[in-house]
Amino acid sequence: MNDDILKVLYSREQIQDATEKMGKQITKDFEGKDPLVICILKGAAVFYSDIVREINTYCELDFMDVSSYGNETVSSGDVKIIKDLDTSVEGRNVLIIEDIIDTGRTLKCLVDLFEKRNAKSVKICTLLDKPDRRIEGIVPDYTGFKVPNEFVVGFGLDYMGHYRNLPFVGVLKPEIYADNQE
Ligand code: XMP
Ligand code: MG
Repeated sequence: MNDDILKVLYSREQIQDATEKMGKQITKDFEGKDPLVICILKGAAVFYSDIVREINTYCELDFMDVSSYGNETVSSGDVKIIKDLDTSVEGRNVLIIEDIIDTGRTLKCLVDLFEKRNAKSVKICTLLDKPDRRIEGIVPDYTGFKVPNEFVVGFGLDYMGHYRNLPFVGVLKPEIYADNQE
């Protein structure tokens, strides 16, 4: 699996540093606000498990599974709820944890949904941000890294279901995509 990687963009250590910094800021900002911290499955699962352990104040955790991509590397624009939250967001301070913001369509949909469900506030924390590709006016409140416009894998991010378990964020060799287009 590691042989499929062309280059590492962010190492485990760099991600850990960024996560600690974001966690400190989130702890400060959400002290006394008992946020509902939402993991967007599956991509955010790895980052989520790290960031929640850097939030040192009372909070609740919940999980939502949405899909916008299928097995393609370009956004289809559709967002489907596959698994909804167990907890009501009404009157809650919501903090969404994402792996990556690309066009922003997924997040726009989720922010609108939580506002419609009468959340008190909705904030976004993302490991990666690809601002070059933004279509919707979504600006994350906490960002680990701004990434160039490349398809990345690892640390939760997949290509055709694989590579989520890589402990870093990297770029695949072009032949990996080519092999799948035959
Ligand atoms: P939008 O366009 O709605 O997309 O902001 C967000 C979702 O798209 C997926 N995505 C990626 N997944 N490598 C991936 O593995 C990438 O470079 C990439 N860019 C976008 C991701 O699932 C994210 O939640
Ligand atoms: Mg995702």
